[in-house]
Order: sequence, then structure tokens, then C-alpha cells
Amino acid sequence: MTPTSIRPSLPPSKLPHVGTTIFSTMSALANEHGALNVAQGFPDLDPPLTLRDAVKKAIDDGVNQYSPMTGDPKLRLWISEMYKGEHGAIYDIDNEITIGAGASSVIFASIQALVHKGDEVIIVDPAYDLYAPAVHLAGGVIKRATLPLSPNKGEEEGAIDVSKIDELISDKTRLVIINAPHNPTGACFTRKSLDELSIILSGTNIFLLSDEVYGPIVHDGRPFLSAASHRELHSRTMVFGSFGKLLHATGWKIGWVAAPRFITKEIRKVHQYDVFSTGAPIQRGIANYLFTDQAKQHLSELGPIYEAKRDRLLAGIKDTDFIFTPAEGGYFQIIDYSILDKRSDIEVSREWTIKHGLATIPLSPFRDSGKSSALIERRVRICFAKDDNTIDETILKLCAIDAYYKSNRPLLDV
Ligand SMILES: Cc1ncc(COP(=O)(O)O)c(C=O)c1O
Repeated sequence: MTPTSIRPSLPPSKLPHVGTTIFSTMSALANEHGALNVAQGFPDLDPPLTLRDAVKKAIDDGVNQYSPMTGDPKLRLWISEMYKGEHGAIYDIDNEITIGAGASSVIFASIQALVHKGDEVIIVDPAYDLYAPAVHLAGGVIKRATLPLSPNKGEEEGAIDVSKIDELISDKTRLVIINAPHNPTGACFTRKSLDELSIILSGTNIFLLSDEVYGPIVHDGRPFLSAASHRELHSRTMVFGSFGKLLHATGWKIGWVAAPRFITKEIRKVHQYDVFSTGAPIQRGIANYLFTDQAKQHLSELGPIYEAKRDRLLAGIKDTDFIFTPAEGGYFQIIDYSILDKRSDIEVSREWTIKHGLATIPLSPFRDSGKSSALIERRVRICFAKDDNTIDETILKLCAIDAYYKSNRPLLDV
């Protein structure tokens, strides 16, 4: 046969609506224009020194070959003890906890394991951008439960409005995906919202995927309520955590899923042919670190450290025309600029990056394929997991943007 240089034509895309994520897009724009980047969600705090030493030691000790497919046993032990001690939830170390390449890989594996062609999956909108493509690849159909964007409605009211999920349940629903503390709004579960969810799901064949990667990062004295802690929900629920978030080490990509044995069995069938196992010395170093007193202290300080950063940011912009409700948990703050500018969030966040040197994340990509239907989103997300100098610089830039709008108001109010 004569060699040919004609490249093969691609079959139709399996994810036609998916492009580069907004996080990469905004970070690239920030780099191009030398803007301050509070867009992408990573801390600029370093992982604790003793943790870094523990990982280096694991490498030097020769922990350099594959870890078990299920994850390092000592790490699974810590996870199991943590759920028992903090949430009263029992997970068997061998059969109910699996370590993945970040929470992402096991979230993806769980969706592939449970969702069949035509199954409906309810996600809470706005939503982290991984869920919808994973459901599409599995052949599932997304139903979006749009939540009110003001997260702090008061403990009793329930920040995650579960009735919106209830409205979407049908006999085709296979899975409900929830996320708390929520990215991007910071909303947390209340006991009431979990109780309501358990009543809605009771007697159905619907599974619950609870993405809790911001776990103990909760503010203003509220407890971190894991869906794992709910006795009725437990048997249908997969809970996910991320050491990247807990240990300021997002680049290490070590996360987990804890789920009842019959669910875990199916998740592992996908996981073992997806990543199989991940970063053995990192897992061992994390495990050795987690059983120390320093780790206990680090984890107990996580919420307060981020809360102080949130408060610093919000105090700095309290006299501007930005509207905000303090995030209940996590390390993101939504700000609403609708008093200042009527244009869409994509347009405005690009302009702020290029003209005002501040890169944020527009909120609409967290909605339906970024299309936002009829709604024009006028909110952006700011990551406050940054050192205090970066937060102060963010405040200065936001105040300058506020002043710019005010001095140009007659021009912009058209
Ligand atoms: C809500 C949510 N879930 C999952 C992840 C992914 O976690 P990991 O980095 O452990 O894969 C992120 C990361 O930003 C997130 O915000």
C-alpha cells in the first residue's frame, strides 16, 4: 500500500459542547495580560513542611512502585477513622474506601459505573464542571436543579433547596449529584436539607453522589455535615474527599470515595481500568503525616484560616457597590456586580482581566453548558485561598474597578 498523508477524519465528538475549561481560559488570559489571578481554585499556601518531608521520606524509603488498586492501606485507615470519629459513619477499610487521582477520577469512575444510557441524573445548578461531561459520556441525561444563588438563607431554611431536586425526580432518575460546601457559592448542607433529601430518595433506586471536597472548610461556626453522617442516606450515598484541598496540595491529585460495599464493587471495576492506582509515595507520605499531632492541628485550623481570608476580602470591599453574601464554606466568594455593569459575566470578567488587571471566574460556565439560557449572569467567583498580600491586592483592584464604574456611570448606563 502507498503511504498517504491524509489524516483520518474524526467521528462525531462525544462531547461537542466541551471546550477548554473556563479555569484554564481565564488563567491563560491572566498570564497574557499580567493580571492578578484569583480565578482558578488553588491555594497559594504551601503544604505543611512535615507533610512535604513525609512524602520525600516515602520516596527515599522506596515506596515507589504501584500502590494497591484500592489505595494505601494506612491512608484508607485514616479515612475510615475520620468518618467514624467525625461523622459517626462506618466504612470498611478494604471494601468501602477507594483512593483515586484526586476526587475527580473517582467521581468520574462512579458516574461511569452507575449511569446507563438514558438514565437521568440531577445536578445542582450552578455546578462544578466535571459532572455534566461525565454523565454525557455515560449516556445519561442531565436535569438541572437551579438553586437560588444567595447561599445564606439561615440555618433553618436549608441552604441547598432540596425541593428543586424533588421537582425533577422521575422513574428514570438514577443519580442525584450534590456538592457542599458548594463550588462556586459556598453553600453548606443543613441537617434539615439532608433530612429532606433522605425523605425524597427514600424507597427509590436513586443513588446520591455527594462531592464534599471542601469538607471541613466551613465558616462562622457551622458544623461540617457530611451526607455520610445521615443514617438513611448512607446506604445509597458515595462521599468524596480531596487531600489536595485539605493539605494545600491540589497538584498532588490524591482524593477518595467512600461508599457501601455493593456500590464500591462497581466503582472499582471502572477505577481499576482508569487510573488503577495513583502516586504511591504521596499517598504514604500523606498517611504518615495524617496520624501526627501537627496534622490534627492543621486540619482544625483549616476553616478558621480561610474564614479570616474571606473576612479580610469582604471587609476590604464593604464600601463598594459589589453585592455579596459571605460564603458559608469553601474558599470561593461570589460577588454580584449588577449595580455597576449590566453586561454578561463573560464579557465583564474578560474586560476586568485585560483592562483592570484582575482575573476572576464568570459564573455562567457553571450553568447549562455555559449557555445560561435566558439568564444573563452578573456574578463572578473569586478564590480567596491566597496569601494576605494577594488578598489586599485583590481588594485594591476591586475598589479601583468600583471607582472606575462610578466615575464612568453615565457612559455605562446605556
Ligand atoms: C467541587 C469540586 N469537586 C471536585 C474537585 C476536584 O478535586 P481534585 O482536585 O481532588 O480532583 C474540585 C476541584 O476544584 C471541586 O471544586
